[in-house]
Amino acid sequence: TNKTFTMIKPDAVANGHIGAILDQIIKGGFKITAMKYTKLSQETAGKFYEVHKERPFYGELVDFMSSGTIVAAILEKDNAVEDFRKLIGATDPAKAEKGTIRNLFAQSIGANAIHGSDSDENAKIEGSFFFSGLEKF
Ligand code: GTP
Ligand code: MG
Repeated sequence: TNKTFTMIKPDAVANGHIGAILDQIIKGGFKITAMKYTKLSQETAGKFYEVHKERPFYGELVDFMSSGTIVAAILEKDNAVEDFRKLIGATDPAKAEKGTIRNLFAQSIGANAIHGSDSDENAKIEGSFFFSGLEKF
């Protein structure tokens, strides 16, 4: 489809990178169709990342994602999921291509600045996790 879901993670918000990241997203050709500031509880972060609950870093991931304000948004563009994953770069910022959002703003594999859905199906699930039908204009 033409939609994906993103979160600007607590490290990037705390480090003052919201504006620069939104600028990259918009310059990358994405339209922001819904957006909110919020803070996840441990419970909500745990639920969002439930697919990773057997991974060794799950506890660290949940602690980190509930440690501060995040910005959640739904983005629209042709080929949105794949193009957005390209724009953000590899999970580990040390491996992220030059000029990608993670290359520019991420601290580490855990505190890696931004999330992007990995499939059309997950984009829909994740968008609906954060936004109501009314907000998804
Ligand atoms: P997301 O867009 O956030 O889903 O990242 P991704 O799809 O590039 O990576 P993946 O879904 O495999 O992992 C989800 C998140 O878990 C990553 O973005 C990291 O924040 C975190 N993560 C992944 N691997 C590690 C790790 O080895 N250590 C820690 N602390 N966190 C990790
Ligand atoms: Mg992922």
